[in-house]
Amino acid sequence: MAARLILGIESSCDETSAAVVRVDGETLHVLSCNTASQDELHAEYRGVVPEIASRAHLASIIPVIRSACAEAHVSLSGIHGVAAGHRPGLIGSLLVGVSSAKSLAWGLDVPFVGVDHVLAHLVACLLDQPPVVWPAIGLVASGGHTSLFRMNTPLDVTLIGATIDDAAGEAFDKGAALLGIGYPGGARLDAIAQTGDGMALPLPITRLQSLDFSFSGVKTALALAAKHPDCAGRTSDLAASFRRVIVAQIIRNLGRALDAHPSATVLVGGGVAANRLLRTEAAALTTTRGVALRIAEPRWCTDNAAMIAGAGALRIARGERDGWDLTAQPLSAVARGRRGPQKRTT
Ligand code: KG4
Ligand code: ZN
Repeated sequence: MAARLILGIESSCDETSAAVVRVDGETLHVLSCNTASQDELHAEYRGVVPEIASRAHLASIIPVIRSACAEAHVSLSGIHGVAAGHRPGLIGSLLVGVSSAKSLAWGLDVPFVGVDHVLAHLVACLLDQPPVVWPAIGLVASGGHTSLFRMNTPLDVTLIGATIDDAAGEAFDKGAALLGIGYPGGARLDAIAQTGDGMALPLPITRLQSLDFSFSGVKTALALAAKHPDCAGRTSDLAASFRRVIVAQIIRNLGRALDAHPSATVLVGGGVAANRLLRTEAAALTTTRGVALRIAEPRWCTDNAAMIAGAGALRIARGERDGWDLTAQPLSAVARGRRGPQKRTT
């Protein structure tokens, strides 16, 4: 089948993003990705305000799509399909991207597909990369999810572990708030941790018997340590120690997932995959185990439309399309969010 150009739209939380991806067999080539961040709008609230997010998406969506097409040197008439992240996320935010994608696809008379955002974080590992050897273990560590998957292909995944409380990114953000580092916290805490001693504080590494994760205990341990007089003025040591134990838990479970499900490749995506220590430790683990590591490029770790276009492109290349009645949904169908287990719907 000839190469196709897919337009992807991401608006699940606080980034309005559009991208054009060319799919050619299994290869996903990113031609453009344009993202409008809302960080400044939410900073004073130290978290995303849904109503503000929806309105900002509405203001940015068309300019972002126009820029993505211009950057890719394609006109809308050259687009063969449109994909939008339709779950999980903030409903008002998702509605902006899904409605825009449907309208475009209908007007252009091309297929429309909805994409599960958690799955798209795994597809981010495939962008502009050679084909993966399957099966694989997939890890998505983001602000809303920390989930392990057994993957037969990018679209055929089974959940084998998930957080039972906070997501890793959420823990990093809350840890950053505790340390007064600012918003958004994960990337800032990572930068400050680079200058600290990760062994300075004996924070506990959570070890569950299953492949699930828990980050609330270490958050409490950090809160207690931060109040201790010995820790006064040692923000970088606190940040480095906190980062060390979060990453240690993730790497431990990745290793145990490989024990339970021998695989050729490990895929790591989501905002937390940008974490410098996690990248180093994932590389060390996979080298020791003799498996390939596909960790999303830093620019494709945090929310972006290239991963949505990529996941949509793989579906469209299989001849799939969704109905015009597809709705936005708050929860993932493949992962478990904060609100407990999800029944798989597709
Ligand atoms: O994937 P993402 O952009 O959004 C969700 O789908 O949730 O992930 C955002 C999360 C935030 O919690 C952010 O603090 C975290 O990823 N994050 C990081 C780093 N960069 C972003 N966490 C740790 N280290 C980083 N370098
Ligand atoms: Zn995300």
